[in-house]
Amino acid sequence: MVDVIAIDGPAGAGKGTIAKFLSQKLKFPYIDTGLFYRALAFKALGAHVPYDNEVMLIDLAESVGLDDLENDLLRDESVASVASQTSVHPRIREILTNKMRSEALRIAEKSGGVILDGRDVSTVIFPNATTKLFIIADENTREQRRLQEMQKKGLMVKDGALSERDKRDQSRKTSPLKKAADAHTIDTTYLSIEEACAKALSFI
Ligand code: DC
Repeated sequence: MVDVIAIDGPAGAGKGTIAKFLSQKLKFPYIDTGLFYRALAFKALGAHVPYDNEVMLIDLAESVGLDDLENDLLRDESVASVASQTSVHPRIREILTNKMRSEALRIAEKSGGVILDGRDVSTVIFPNATTKLFIIADENTREQRRLQEMQKKGLMVKDGALSERDKRDQSRKTSPLKKAADAHTIDTTYLSIEEACAKALSFI
């Protein structure tokens, strides 16, 4: 038996920060599932593949490997926006979900556990996860946090980019962002990083 900690929520709510904290605390590796979708988006941008062409995207999705995740350019919000568009296709989700699941199980077997964050970790990737956390924060707070994070890295973020992405991620037909019935919700709007992390740890 391995422990799987599944963390879902919209962009900028604090999933990554909480996941990294728990990873340090519990000594379980952390997998950012959004990176798989960003890596595909990056390939689609480079190859000029239209975002609605599922057939062409399938080949690119098959080619996504762990090496593709190590790329600072994936952090750009423009890549995230494309990721949100190319991730609506059911077959693309199936291909990338299989890659995430097998990688997670491979590393969990070595470490006794794994932490994943994304949009559908608790509902689709690992519906039987040991602990499920749903991280939220109000839209203004999330926009502000993402803006600060991007400015620190010298990157740009378009006004309203986050809410456009959230709407798409929540309304797509295949595995939309939603809270699993057995997930614990943490609203980080008025919490400091330390408070949010402590609360997350209290559910484990
Ligand atoms: O977590 P992130 O911001 O890196 O995710 C980028 C996009 O990838 C997100 O807007 C939608 C998609 N995504 C997804 O559909 N399912 C996941 N488990 C993770 C990300």
